[in-house]
Amino acid sequence: MEIMTDYLVIGSGIAGLSFALKAAKSGTVAIITKKERMETSTNYAQGGIASVVDINDSFDFHVRDTLKSGDGLCNKKIVDIVVKDGPERIKELIQFGVNFSQMSDGSGDLELGMEGGHSKRRVVHTKDHTGREVERALLEKVKENKKITVYEDHMAIDLITKSKLIKRGIISSETSESCWGAYVLNEDNGQVVTFIARITVIATGGAGKIYLYTSNPDIATGDGVAIGYRAGVKVANMEFVQFHPTCLYHPLAKNFLISEAVRGEGGILLDGRGNRFMEKYHPMKDLAFRDVVARSIYLELKKSGDECVYLDITHRSPDFIKERFPSIYENCLKYHIDITSQPIPVVPAAHYMCGGIMTDENGATNIKNLYAIGEVACTGLHGANRLASNSLLEALVFAKRAAERSEKELLENMHIPLSKAPLWDCGGATDSEEMIVVTHNWDEIRRTMWNYVGIVRTNKRLARARTRIENIQAEIREYYWDFIVTRDLLELRNIALVAELIITCASMRKESRGLHYNLDYPEKDDEHWKRNTVIWK
Ligand code: FAD
Ligand code: SIN
Repeated sequence: MEIMTDYLVIGSGIAGLSFALKAAKSGTVAIITKKERMETSTNYAQGGIASVVDINDSFDFHVRDTLKSGDGLCNKKIVDIVVKDGPERIKELIQFGVNFSQMSDGSGDLELGMEGGHSKRRVVHTKDHTGREVERALLEKVKENKKITVYEDHMAIDLITKSKLIKRGIISSETSESCWGAYVLNEDNGQVVTFIARITVIATGGAGKIYLYTSNPDIATGDGVAIGYRAGVKVANMEFVQFHPTCLYHPLAKNFLISEAVRGEGGILLDGRGNRFMEKYHPMKDLAFRDVVARSIYLELKKSGDECVYLDITHRSPDFIKERFPSIYENCLKYHIDITSQPIPVVPAAHYMCGGIMTDENGATNIKNLYAIGEVACTGLHGANRLASNSLLEALVFAKRAAERSEKELLENMHIPLSKAPLWDCGGATDSEEMIVVTHNWDEIRRTMWNYVGIVRTNKRLARARTRIENIQAEIREYYWDFIVTRDLLELRNIALVAELIITCASMRKESRGLHYNLDYPEKDDEHWKRNTVIWK
């Protein structure tokens, strides 16, 4: 089956939906998403969106905090662009119907949250479930738009690139590489659909599921980076995996974050004996940059042998806690933890991928007609460590810029007939009877990455991880070509590749900076390493 569209958007989070709403002004848009449309990291975002909206704040302060957090690797030009566009993007979300929390004084002013690394209150939020509210509003707008079609349970397998068409004798000319859509698995019937598009946008989010413990939902398997890399895009800074310091520690809780906003409202980190410890590590204490707090918790746990530390907000009134953090309160209560009277057991977990597909200031990749926006992209904003709540902001700003830029490219591509892509060839594939191998490999990758490529690394650990991942990749190659594709198998292939890319970048960087900490090179080395780690196939 073939579907033709002007724009193909892979992903229905804040980046994909925001892009689609703008692109629909100039063409037809197909959004594919591998589960239900709201099943995205966006939907689980808690703290909010960082932006300068208070008169006591300034663009300079937000820029300075972002640069400090990025530890020398942010692109200043990109930081300026994103920070300055923030207030407009917030206004637009409000016009779209997003209900942000307002001050209780009746002024109508936005209530601003505080998070680690920020020198001012600047996090626009909807209580502690900002992402759910933003996703709801964007999906409603998309539903009203007749030029946008959403395909749920459709998973992108690989991009259709010009070189693929040349290889199969469909196109003969050899000019620069370009993209013309994607092969997509329709999970309802197991068929592979060929989506042919003049512009393709990768908005597939992050890759937290590569690690055993993560705040991310199941969709976060790094598909976009893997798909892009196989097609020839440049990928950068994959060693900078952000670990959120405070995920709920409970045997039955899966992926539940305790927002940094809890520390922003006075929450204090305590060790197992009830002692504060962050003042030993950084003058900003519990509100230090995220890499510092996660590493400090790691060191405390290593020293004490404890399984978790605690986050204590009990000194605030129960009414305040329930009003400001209703979702966290309710969720913890399910595990018999009353956060108004008990400290919350927490541990760090993989949370955000600062690296990704390298793009320019308009979200364009090095392949023509192909864009990457949102968490999957490496724009230069985050450097070696993302500042809290800068991710949703980045997605909004780049969705707009990519839509404006790709509209021009769409016009240039209009004369090209779109009916020449080959259908997917599944060769002699049969149904796999040994899905247990897939499950086993999934588990091994996630444990390997957690144990050897986590918060603290060494050369030996990285080498061990590489050997294990290479063995698994050899097994996957056999499976991938011999059996009919399923989502599990495709995701496995992707997490293995992205794990390899993280290990490669981490092994290249012979220093410690931001989120990358290697005991064999504990110092920052500006002379040799104040630069991105860039790789491509
Ligand atoms: P996502 O929202 O993750 O959407 C990705 C989409 O791509 C999904 O629809 C998925 O199904 C689809 N997809 C993936 N692979 C494929 C494929 N192969 N084929 C088809 N579809 C595919 N950031 C902040 O700035 N502020 C916060 O307060 C904040 N809180 C967070 C809390 C949590 C628990 C988490 C997990 C993250 C948080 N973040 C926060 C980070 C932020 O939410 C994400 O970086 C951001 O939402 C990413 O948006 P996105 O549109 O790029 O991707
Ligand atoms: C949080 O609420 O702590 C998450 C914020 C973020 O990841 O930016």
